[in-house]
Amino acid sequence: MATNGLQAARVLITGGTRGIGRACVEAFLRHGASVVLCGRDDAAVQTTVDELRADASGVYGVVCDVADPVAVAGLVDEAESLLSGIDVLVNNAGAYLISRFVDLTDADWSRVLEVNLMGTVRCTRAVLPRMAAQGRVINIASTAGKYGSLYQSAYNASKHAVVGLTRCLALEYAATQIRVNAICPGFVETDMVADQVPTLAPLLDLPEDEVMDVLRARVPIGRFVTPEEVAGLAVYLASPLAAGMTGQALTLSGGMVLV
Ligand code: NAI
Repeated sequence: MATNGLQAARVLITGGTRGIGRACVEAFLRHGASVVLCGRDDAAVQTTVDELRADASGVYGVVCDVADPVAVAGLVDEAESLLSGIDVLVNNAGAYLISRFVDLTDADWSRVLEVNLMGTVRCTRAVLPRMAAQGRVINIASTAGKYGSLYQSAYNASKHAVVGLTRCLALEYAATQIRVNAICPGFVETDMVADQVPTLAPLLDLPEDEVMDVLRARVPIGRFVTPEEVAGLAVYLASPLAAGMTGQALTLSGGMVLV
């Protein structure tokens, strides 16, 4: 039995077909919320919804690239109509890019900023005016939004921007009781990191099959954080237990980052 006040919550989660986003969708559904998830790929969205409907009825999928302003407007309209309102927005969709700074083109910078920063800006801007008091915005940022990280200049800058945006919106909306917080995970056990192994290996001067183990060994708890652990923090931030918390960027990194 869910006891954290999320039973009637109406939740929009961007990038919900795999990884952290999917874990968030599953966690909110387990707590009795209704959820709209989005992803860029029609088949992935449909498959995810079909799988989740085996256990939960209140889940819907919308195809949307958060870097596309028109698609974002459509996503928020559709989510509001499917759920009869939006109480919680989880800005999770993100693009990761490992590269030396001098090799990053303008197109690389645009893609990372359009997804990570402007996707968050546009989804939040469309949702906030329709969100009732007590609404919650949860931005999945990164420890890369708090400190420097090697070969991640575009990604790192985009996540610093998301943390700054979180803090500013928290202040701007505090009087309306809408809370805006960020989660800053360290390494999380998802395909996003695994997909970068071929790029990381030469930069770290490691064979590809050693990269993940070397990264895991850098985490004081000896493993990556799980998507479910990130989702648990998102559920907490959305719940009345966190009613006094806004403007925070909460680190979840297995001890890798201590601020
Ligand atoms: P992932 O690559 O496993 O999943 C990303 C999800 O977002 C997928 O469902 C994908 O379809 C969707 N997505 C990507 N670009 C999109 C777009 N333009 N429009 C709509 N949907 C889109 O990634 P993961 O690891 O689950 O990451 C989720 C978030 O967590 C990202 O914002 C990422 O930057 C952040 N993060 C991840 C960490 C990690 O170690 N995996 C660490 C810190 C932060």
